Amino acid sequence: MTSTRATVDHYERLAASHDHNWTHSGVFLDWMTSQIVSAASIGATDRVADVGSGTGLFARHIADQVHPAQPILCVDTSRPMLTQIPTSPEPQPVVAPAEEMAEWVTAGGGAGTAGELDVILLKESVHTR
Ligand SMILES: C[S@@+](CC[C@H](N)C(=O)[O-])C[C@H]1O[C@@H](n2cnc3c(N)ncnc32)[C@H](O)[C@@H]1O
Repeated sequence: MTSTRATVDHYERLAASHDHNWTHSGVFLDWMTSQIVSAASIGATDRVADVGSGTGLFARHIADQVHPAQPILCVDTSRPMLTQIPTSPEPQPVVAPAEEMAEWVTAGGGAGTAGELDVILLKESVHTR
């Protein structure tokens, strides 16, 4: 999951159409979200990071299903993807590469809150070369 210039450029081009491509089926979104919540056993007290979250489309649906006590952290290298996340009340965008997660989670860095994560979600964000 190395963040290259080509990857960042690729998602900058796709950002505007990303949600449109996925939201053609609300049934699919609900189903996929339920699968994620069930597979990762996500509960309301869990602190969740969605790494490579894109627009936070699934993080938002997870929040709707789980009602987490703390905002889901949406971590992504692509600012154009993250800027599509509604400003309130959640999730919380973090512009950062996955490779630096250990540093900013420990330090509180871009996330604004230090501490442990209970769930780290990577959905279609691992790229191979
Ligand atoms: C195909 S999109 C998936 C978005 C979202 N997970 C979903 O399923 O709707 C892949 C996302 O991973 C991000 N990404 C790729 N490499 C990354 C890295 N090293 N660190 C953080 N984000 C990365 C991209 O910017 C892009 O937004």
